[in-house]
Order: sequence, then C-alpha cells, then structure tokens
Amino acid sequence: MKLLSSEPLQAFNTLSLCAIGELLVSVRTERELTDALAWAQHQKKKVTAFGAGSNVVLAGDISGLVIVQNSTGIEIVSEDDSGVVLRVAAGENWHNFVVWCLEEGFYGLENLALIPGTVGAAPIQNIGAYGVEIKSFINAVHARRILGQEQLVLSKKQCEFSYRDSVFKHSLRDQFVITSVELRLRKNEYLECDYPELAKELERENDSATTAQNVFDAVVKIRSSKLPDPAIEPNAGSFFKNPVLPVAQAQELMDTYHNLPAYRQENGKVKFPAAWFIDQCGWKGYRQNGVGVHPEHALVLVNYGSNSGVELLKLAGKISGSIKERFGIVLVKEPRTYGGAYE
Ligand code: FAD
Ligand code: EPU
Repeated sequence: MKLLSSEPLQAFNTLSLCAIGELLVSVRTERELTDALAWAQHQKKKVTAFGAGSNVVLAGDISGLVIVQNSTGIEIVSEDDSGVVLRVAAGENWHNFVVWCLEEGFYGLENLALIPGTVGAAPIQNIGAYGVEIKSFINAVHARRILGQEQLVLSKKQCEFSYRDSVFKHSLRDQFVITSVELRLRKNEYLECDYPELAKELERENDSATTAQNVFDAVVKIRSSKLPDPAIEPNAGSFFKNPVLPVAQAQELMDTYHNLPAYRQENGKVKFPAAWFIDQCGWKGYRQNGVGVHPEHALVLVNYGSNSGVELLKLAGKISGSIKERFGIVLVKEPRTYGGAYE
C-alpha cells in the first residue's frame, strides 16, 4: 500500500480546486482496499472515497484518508439470448465502459455516453442523461463497509434510486466504499430516443433506421457542443439539480412564464431546467474572483483560476439567492462539498 501524505488534490478533481489530502491511497484491487480500510480503522482515520473527482467541490483540506478507487475489471456474471449481467469494478472509467459495451453488442447505456467519472460513483447520484438513468440497468451494487469491512450486496430496490439521488446520499452516506456494480444490459437494440434534443439530432443525421451507435454518436456530438471540457475549463457539470416542483407551484410558474420549458414526471410533479432560471437572472458569462458561470451553459460553474472552492461556493450562494428571490425556488447543489468547514 503506497500511502501519500499531504497530497495536493488539484489533479484529483475536475474543478481543479486546490486542497491538501492529509493522506491518500489509490486502490486497484480488493486486497489493497482491505489493507487501506484496516489501516484507517487502526489509526482511527476518517475515510473519504473518491472516484475521478468529477462531482466534488473541495472547500478546504481533507483530513483522514482519501481512498481513490482505481480497481479495474469487467466480468460476465450470466448471459442468455436476450441479455447479459456484467459485474464491473468501481474504478473503471464510465465512458470507456459504455464504449466497450457498444463494441460487445450489449445495449442500453448509449444515452449515458461521455459522462465523466467512474463506474463505482455512477449509482451514488443515479447518473442520468438524454432520457436514461443508470437505475434502469442496475442489478446490484457491491460495497464494503468502512468500519469493520462487512461486504454488502444491495439490490436495485435497496439503492432507493430517484432523480440524482440514492440511499448512498442518505442513510448509507459515508459508510461504504462501492467496489463493483452489476448491470443487466440487452442484446437487442431497444433505443430510447424521445429526449427532444436527441430526437432532433437523430432526425438530422439519419434518414434510415436508427442504431445504438447512432444514439451514442448523437449524444457525444450534443454533449461536446454544449458542455465545456473540464481539462480546458475546469468544471463539475451541472452545479445544481433541476428543481422538481409540486403541481400547484409548477402551474403558477408556467402560467407566468410561457417560454419556461417544463417536463412532467411520472409522479405528477414537474421538472424545470435550473439553467433557465439562472439564465433569466442574467448570470451566464458572469465572472468574479477567478470563478464564473459558463457563457454557453448557465448550469455550469467554472474555475477560471481562483482555485478556491470557497469562492465557487460563494458564487453558487449568490446565484441560488437570486433564484429564490425572483422565482421562489430553492436550488439544490449537485456536487458534494468536502474539506474546510464541510469536514
Ligand atoms: P467523484 O466526483 O469522485 O465522487 C462523487 C461522490 O461519490 C463523492 O461523494 C464520493 O465520495 C462518492 N464516491 C465516488 N466513488 C465512490 C465509491 N467507489 N464508493 C463510495 N463513494 C464513492 N452526471 C450525470 O448524472 N449526468 C451527466 O450528464 C453528467 N455530466 C457531467 C459533465 C461534466 C463535464 C462533468 C464534469 C460532470 C458531469 N456529471 C454528470 C457528474 C459526474 O460525472 C457524475 O456524478 C459521476 O458519476 C461522478 O463520478 P466520479 O468518479 O468522478 O465521482
Ligand atoms: N437552458 C437555458 N439556458 C442555458 C442552458 C439551458 O435556458 O444556458 C434551458 C434550455 O431551455 C434547455 C434546458 O435549459 O432546453 C435544458 O438544458 P440541457 O438540455 O442542457 O439540460 P440540463 O437540464 O441543463 C440535464 C442534466 C445534465 C444532462 C442533461 C441531458 C441535471 C442537473 N443536469 O441538464 O447532467 O447531461 O440534462 O440529459 O439534471 C450533470 O448532472 O452534471 C449533467 C450535465
């Protein structure tokens, strides 16, 4: 086990924020995870699990041990004519895994192409894009308890998935390291093309029958055209969740703002794009103290060189304050904050 002390974390988060991890270890195998967890428990060190750091805000130094999941491996658990169950190690890169599935003829994940991060982090917020959420494919999540190392296999139901949410953000928060994820994928190309922007792009590009590869290509094209590359403009994707509002409040907003996009949910509630509210308040392109709002997507906050998570959170606070004041809506942050006052 290679334990690093006072490790700079800038390269471990896509917002490229500066902070120090008291201790950090990269684990590539179950054995290395066992050793790291045993060491932390013996030394009474708090454990923080990290994947690729694409959904975290570092607001200060992180005490204790940061465990970076770098385990790899994809195993076929079972297979029949209609589908396959795969068990994928937590440290596998999500997008590379999606590409691999497409090459193997295992379908369903095309809409989730190009989402940064690891497979192990994907269930935490039930990653979603272009009309698909990972929950539809999850069979089980394998995890290890941080204290005592009990192995746990959670069924899809036990994961309590909903929009950008799961049990790992609530009752099981900070208690487990996810070690692998079991997904059931299809062998037939049943495609999900209803998301309006995706449907439009597919229509433009393909005049004959659409394939899973077409969906993948279209999603990659759309995402590349509108979301900034964190390697060039450090960001964490959407900084806020889209608000899902009860019918009465939603109706009032729709009656007042006729051009407000609205997406009805299965439970009768209505989801609105947080980007629209932020845009309306004039934040797009705003910059101050080295942080700002991307000029082409109002939901993406960028670190332009402040390197301070605190500055970014101050900006997020100003933005959400203005939305509350003008529209009466409370925006909820999507990335998880670590370090400093958030310890
Ligand atoms: P990290 O950022 O490292 O961690 C996120 C959280 O999960 C932390 O709380 C961490 O403690 C926990 N965690 C990570 N790994 C483990 C583990 N093995 N065990 C226990 N806990 C763990 N998300 C979407 O849903 N849809 C999108 O379309 C989307 N687009 C994005 C676009 C950009 C440009 C960026 C930068 C981000 C985007 N995201 C999107 C957010 C992000 O990609 C996802 O949340 C992703 O799943 C995070 O993976 P990660 O490995 O980087 O996790
Ligand atoms: N819009 C504006 N101004 C902007 C940008 C968007 O008004 O600057 C409005 C437009 O009307 C647009 C609508 O917002 O039609 C929705 O925008 P977009 O299609 O870009 O989607 P989003 O709601 O901003 C969500 C997810 C993304 C995911 C896309 C595609 C959340 C919080 N975000 O974004 O996920 O990729 O849909 O499904 O749900 C992420 O979580 O990090 C992320 C990028």
